[in-house]
Amino acid sequence: MSVTRESEALSGHGLDVARIRADFPVLHKPVNGKRLAFLDSGASAQKPQCVIDAERECYESYYANIHRGVYQLSQRSTQAYEGVRPIVQRFIHAADEREIVFVRGATEAINLVAQSFVRPKLNPGDEILITEMEHHANIVPWQMIAEETGAKVVVAPIFDNGELDMAAFRERLTARTRFVSVVHVSNTLGTINPVEEIITLAHERDIPVLVDGAQSAPHMPVDVQAMGADFYCFSAHKTYGPSGVGVLWGKLEHLEAMPPYQGGGDMIRTVSFEKTTYAAPPQRFEAGTPNIAGTIALGTALEYIESVGREAISAHEHGLLEYGMEALAEIDGMRFIGTAEHKAGVISFVLEGAHPHDMGTILDMEGIAVRAGHHCTQPLMTRYGVPATVRASFGMYNDRDDVDQLVGGLRRVKEFFG
Ligand code: ALA
Repeated sequence: MSVTRESEALSGHGLDVARIRADFPVLHKPVNGKRLAFLDSGASAQKPQCVIDAERECYESYYANIHRGVYQLSQRSTQAYEGVRPIVQRFIHAADEREIVFVRGATEAINLVAQSFVRPKLNPGDEILITEMEHHANIVPWQMIAEETGAKVVVAPIFDNGELDMAAFRERLTARTRFVSVVHVSNTLGTINPVEEIITLAHERDIPVLVDGAQSAPHMPVDVQAMGADFYCFSAHKTYGPSGVGVLWGKLEHLEAMPPYQGGGDMIRTVSFEKTTYAAPPQRFEAGTPNIAGTIALGTALEYIESVGREAISAHEHGLLEYGMEALAEIDGMRFIGTAEHKAGVISFVLEGAHPHDMGTILDMEGIAVRAGHHCTQPLMTRYGVPATVRASFGMYNDRDDVDQLVGGLRRVKEFFG
């Protein structure tokens, strides 16, 4: 395993980015004959060699199904898989490793909480409060259970700069609010929400809160106990790990009171045709054979992030954000979508006279990978009156050359469209 040591990774004021870049093989492969400027970590992050090796090593050396075999390979796989729970526990500072549930991704985590925790509590007229900046994954599961139960989804608005209107949020916490679900960092705007304040306000009214951490876990220190949330979730693929794996963290008292989400093998205590009893959490929520090698590689990815240091990653990405916003602001016709004061490394924009999808295609010809589209946040596109945006999102391996390449690419866009 080639996890970079913290002492080696840090140099001077920030990260030794060259050293980090050396760990990511794909960054050194040209695209369209150009240096790759990968600016789409918000959609999915690239993988360091140690993560690729961890997954390969599992399949090459000790793979077998977990929790089922008495033979050596199965025991090794089980040990490696279960060994990831304490890593996740430490990564988000959970109180107990039984609070860590492995799922397919943040989307499944939210659906699990919606179906198992919130839905049974809903009556007609009850409310679930979300915000205007939510990803579809934090809108649709609530709409589905609202439709089934006669409850409704209430939306707290944002200001033009992409910050949550906290006064409006407070007003929308009513006697009918049964649950609050908010994004920690907006994938489209980059806004970092004041989740501690949100949770305090909700808890004053005994309302539990889920925090969607898909865009915060890879980029900043996370302490679920200090935050005070009831549930927090993230995806492995955005934290430099494999796709198809994710984490739901929930307070043990909640998980213990929740019915299973799916039925099947590995989540039961006893089964007969008359009656089945369920395993305790987290196994209760892990029906079927999971992504074993992927989960093991998630552990490696989190160790890799920790070895680099999340404070340092956050400071580095913030530096790139400032550098990028300043450079992009020089381009004629530039309109930023999302200019909150507290913002993570995400720059969404539109450029007068050029459709985002055309921009994405021209940038790709220059070796620049950005996301162009609605970013699974169609209500936000409506809010800002745009069909789509171009989004550059940073990871720990980005540097100023990537930003300069983007600025150069946008100058090509301008030439192309006159
Ligand atoms: N949610 C991912 C994004 O923001 C896919 O691009």
